[in-house]
Amino acid sequence: MHPVIIDTDTAQDDCVTILLGLLDPACDLRAVTMVAGNVTFERQVHNAAMTLSVAGKLGEVPLHLGCDRPMMRPWVSAEDVHGDGSGGLSMEFDESVVDPKHGVDALIDAVNAEPGEISIVAIGPLTNIATAVVKDRSFASKVKSLYVMGGSNNGRGNVTPSAEFNFYVDPEAAQIVMDAGFKDLKIVTWDPVTLVDATYSREDYNNLCRFKTPIGKFFRRVCDATLDFNESVGVMGSTHPDSITLGALLHPELVLQEGSYRVDVECQSTLTRGFSAMAWDKYDLEPNATVFEKLDGQAFYRILEGILATETQPSREIEGL
Ligand code: BDR
Ligand code: CA
Repeated sequence: MHPVIIDTDTAQDDCVTILLGLLDPACDLRAVTMVAGNVTFERQVHNAAMTLSVAGKLGEVPLHLGCDRPMMRPWVSAEDVHGDGSGGLSMEFDESVVDPKHGVDALIDAVNAEPGEISIVAIGPLTNIATAVVKDRSFASKVKSLYVMGGSNNGRGNVTPSAEFNFYVDPEAAQIVMDAGFKDLKIVTWDPVTLVDATYSREDYNNLCRFKTPIGKFFRRVCDATLDFNESVGVMGSTHPDSITLGALLHPELVLQEGSYRVDVECQSTLTRGFSAMAWDKYDLEPNATVFEKLDGQAFYRILEGILATETQPSREIEGL
């Protein structure tokens, strides 16, 4: 079992990632930490709490609130892509749902308690991770593996032609993380990995939605809006960048091709803000990350089917499900 913390801006595939973390037998999910990203911070917390609830795990895995805005810039929303991130579902919410410890301190305390044991899967802007690096200079050296969903490998962005959302929202945080000296930094990109390996056609998506379990119904509600948006911009399927990032950690056989890269993130330009320069070995630069070049999307699809088929008893009623 892999001890894991998921750092998330919970909407759409972030929800799927939390479900995978809770229900995949290979994962020992220690905590969920929240960071500003996809939708309003309050909505993200609600989405994360509903996700814990639909799996019947509300209160079992702590939910920590981290940084509610990027380090140096105003927050940028992806509500045009994800709607509210959970298809209009709602649940009774109170303070008891949230752990009082700040997300950055939860990350720091967890790796200090078990140096070299905890892996972090960062599937939102890297604000919490960068803040942990700055607050505790030993943090990076004590994390077992850091898996990041962000950037593109010299390819397309999704917010601008050159930038992927997570790196675009907080480029300074992303650069701090690239420079921090994590021993095992792995990156899942938007282009090509998400677009080629983790985008399931509407037909395949509908097949994934055939499960009548609470999890199966929840999956469809949280993913529908994003699929509609994707098709409107020519991405012909349901995109699963975040969940395949955790999948690659839990099931290394999903990794079909990878390379050592020097990754840097553009922080100066307006035009190319958040662009990830990924220099491969030809350039003789000291590598700081392993970038996945090809993942086994079909094998991951089968893992998702197993998760969606799981019967659960939701901890609290979810209205609209
Ligand atoms: C990333 O941005 C978010 O909208 C998704 O959750 C994913 O983490 C893709 O660019
Ligand atoms: Ca995300």
